[in-house]
Amino acid sequence: PFTVELARSGKTITVTPSESVLQAVAEAGSPVLASCSMGVCGTCEVGVLAGVPDHRDSLLSDAERAENDRMFVCVSRAVTERLVLDL
Ligand code: FES
Repeated sequence: PFTVELARSGKTITVTPSESVLQAVAEAGSPVLASCSMGVCGTCEVGVLAGVPDHRDSLLSDAERAENDRMFVCVSRAVTERLVLDL
């Protein structure tokens, strides 16, 4: 599990291995629009303010991943124990 802090709402949630960040933030009352839920369409892009995502999408280039400023929450998870998202 890892922790996701929602910067705008001030909520902190735990994402368990059995759920996606997309599911966890929706349960916390900060739903993100999603379409493919497979990391290929780009609909569920969310800004990353702190922490390092574990990118599992098929969209970001290596250079974009290195910028560490966004993630696709339907599939991507966290390398660090904590992520702060622009939600
Ligand atoms: Fe398509 Fe996340 S919903 S990339």
